[in-house]
Amino acid sequence: MRRCVIFDLDGTLTASDEGILNCVRHTAQVMGLPLPTSEMEQKMIGPPLLWSFTQLLGMTQQQALKGIEVYRERYNRVGLFENRVYPGIRTLLRMLKMKGDWVAIATGKPTGASRRIIEHFQLNEYFDCIEGLRDDDPPGKEGLISRILPPDCSEALMVGDRKYDIDGGRKAGCRTVGVGFGYGTEQELREAGCDLYAPTVDALIELLCPGMARPLGAFLSMEGLDGSGKTTQMHLLTEALTRYGYEVITSREPGGCPISEKIRQIILDPENSEMEPVTEALLYAAARAQHVREVIQPAVTAGKVLLSDRFVDSSIAYQGGGRELGTEQVASLNAVALDGTLPLCTVYLDIRHEEALRRRYAASQPDRLEREADSFHARVEAAYHQLIQSAPERFVVVDASLSEEEISARCAEQVLARLHAQEVAADG
Ligand code: TMP
Repeated sequence: MRRCVIFDLDGTLTASDEGILNCVRHTAQVMGLPLPTSEMEQKMIGPPLLWSFTQLLGMTQQQALKGIEVYRERYNRVGLFENRVYPGIRTLLRMLKMKGDWVAIATGKPTGASRRIIEHFQLNEYFDCIEGLRDDDPPGKEGLISRILPPDCSEALMVGDRKYDIDGGRKAGCRTVGVGFGYGTEQELREAGCDLYAPTVDALIELLCPGMARPLGAFLSMEGLDGSGKTTQMHLLTEALTRYGYEVITSREPGGCPISEKIRQIILDPENSEMEPVTEALLYAAARAQHVREVIQPAVTAGKVLLSDRFVDSSIAYQGGGRELGTEQVASLNAVALDGTLPLCTVYLDIRHEEALRRRYAASQPDRLEREADSFHARVEAAYHQLIQSAPERFVVVDASLSEEEISARCAEQVLARLHAQEVAADG
């Protein structure tokens, strides 16, 4: 006998408003109608399209039917994927799987579209069943829930963000959990009679898996020459991973916590021009030692994805290569700082040092390291390439001369694949 946990999809596992509203705007544009106001848009999440198009956008019945076609064409092509998995949901699903629960989705969306969304977000192995309402189902979710519950169910829970979920769950004999991070209000869910209420994903995890340790998260880093576009890509990668339901924390080196930020100021201060290369290397390692223990390790233990702008590879490339201290000396000097912590994967934004220099001078006033002669940056670039050759499995190398969108798409695709492979391996 197993515990069975059934989730609603929209507003419970994923936020779907972005895709829905983009499709509504597209429909209005194609049909030559004015774009909906934000007040109208608010009212469009939830009700049937026919109602929204006629009552809110002022379409005739005939126009609305044509509008639904236009809407569906875009929705099935792109709107489906303009979804966001609520941060932490991925962790919850992993934990339910570890507990051995039977886990399902019961949604008002068509089954095919729901399965495509779940597959797209690399969540399918966490579900035993994904089902939408069928034409022959009675209205409401009761019939759907009763249809999918397996015979060996010891206890059934229905989790959802709207009264329809609570109502359907109760009628099908489930205990019901209302969630406060979707599209319904607490009042709506309480009035519908939910047995339990979780205002956040964290609270939902505590309700469904009380006292259970979270699965480990992951540590990622991003590297590249100054001027490689790292700052922009850090931002875009964070956005992409968050959309997939990862709880991402960004940090940077040197820095990332108060002590290490103070060390950063000493290292990068243009007045410290007499700093010895070995002093510089030790300061970077000292800042790292604090960052690893105070920020990186606790984040991974708490199930988060920690993305660091630079890590030990920067020391190997800049101090080992650029300052000519040698790769091995810098690696051994960092061994104590690392405490065995290495990134699951490292994105390297690959740019020629001449091009990086051109971009740096076009962008801003360079700091102490950025002011180094071009030969310094040529050595840094060569050291990075050597590092990548020595550990190809850890690096995701992306050509930084491509467009911002293309770089970001390639980074996200490869990093998501690594994260997913790690989860599958860890969860068995
Ligand atoms: P940032 O501009 O990417 O924040 O990095 C600050 C500078 O510090 C950059 O020029 C690279 C350099 N650096 C090293 O030389 N060694 C290191 O270990 C790290 C983390 C950064």
